[in-house]
Amino acid sequence: MINNIPTVTLLEGDGIGPEITSSVVKIIEASGVKINWEKMLAGKNAYEKYGSVLPDVTISSIEKNKIVLKAPITTPIGHGFSSVNVALRRHFDLYANVRPSKNMKGVVTPFNNVDLVVIRENTEDIYAGLEEKVDEDRIHGIKLITKKGSTRICDFAFQYALKNNRHEVTVVTKANISKLADGLFLNCFREVAKKYPEIKTREILVDNLCMQLVVNPAQFDVMVMPNLYGDIVSDLCAGLIGGLGLAGSANVGTNCAIFEAVHGSAPDIAGKNIANPTGLLKSAIEMLKYINKNDEALKIQHALEETISEGKILTSDLKGNASTTEFTDEIIRKMSI
Ligand code: NAI
Repeated sequence: MINNIPTVTLLEGDGIGPEITSSVVKIIEASGVKINWEKMLAGKNAYEKYGSVLPDVTISSIEKNKIVLKAPITTPIGHGFSSVNVALRRHFDLYANVRPSKNMKGVVTPFNNVDLVVIRENTEDIYAGLEEKVDEDRIHGIKLITKKGSTRICDFAFQYALKNNRHEVTVVTKANISKLADGLFLNCFREVAKKYPEIKTREILVDNLCMQLVVNPAQFDVMVMPNLYGDIVSDLCAGLIGGLGLAGSANVGTNCAIFEAVHGSAPDIAGKNIANPTGLLKSAIEMLKYINKNDEALKIQHALEETISEGKILTSDLKGNASTTEFTDEIIRKMSI
């Protein structure tokens, strides 16, 4: 914070990252919010300059600022460096992944009343990477679930519900089969729920949840679940509102939060000025709320929704023919009306 202006570490990523980042920064500036952007490198670009995909200067910047706006970073498949995204989550213990899914006017989907939030545990489960080859025929993969990890994510979900004026938290498990691991998660949820009598609770098995979501998604509010179910269910929920390109997310820890789009670096359209910045913009809106710039966050959200619902100036993924720049400028124009 310099002169009451927050400093945010900005990771522009690669592929379409720089294009959508520049769009989002322009929109935030036009909303009236002042931010000192500290541009840092991660991924391929950082490797070329520092010999590391997550150099110490980037880590120090995040440790100091505690807030990051991050564009997608390419992860090579099968060879090369491992995921910067996973490394960031581990290093900063970003244990909560928050993925809101709400219908946007103008985006035609089978439903028009979706307004739910997936809270995914972000550090445990099969993502702990505990696998071993026993012999040629057998691999053991460990699903790690701990009392500490389950309790803190369930508590986060109830706190999120309180802060965001939500009324119900549903716990999602497969505790009928995974009696020990998912059973522990479920028990932790039940314990934590006792602290929040004002919030309704519900328990559901993940297979039933998936069926219910594609039949009647409006029945769900906040949902909390272990890592793997959260990974799958949050993409399903993005599909309910029109796809990954429209989804934003936050990775939150005790001392740090990273806001990022859900989609990847889209190398197939990089550099063409046709990428849709909406996913990163929605993440930035969550970031503005996180730093208590609620009015500006709402102003941007309304302008974005109006631009999309009007349907005149849209990028090609939304069946329009506008460039990233034209879409950005239209959102800015709408904010000034
Ligand atoms: P992707 O999400 O980059 O692309 C999938 C398809 O969606 C492509 O056709 C792409 O053109 C389109 N698309 C994605 N974002 C778009 C946008 N904003 N506007 C318009 N069209 C868009 O997924 P893909 O191809 O599997 O991954 C590419 C790279 O991104 C990989 O290296 C992957 O590891 C990385 N990745 C990084 C993430 C992150 O940094 N958080 C998340 C997901 C993937």
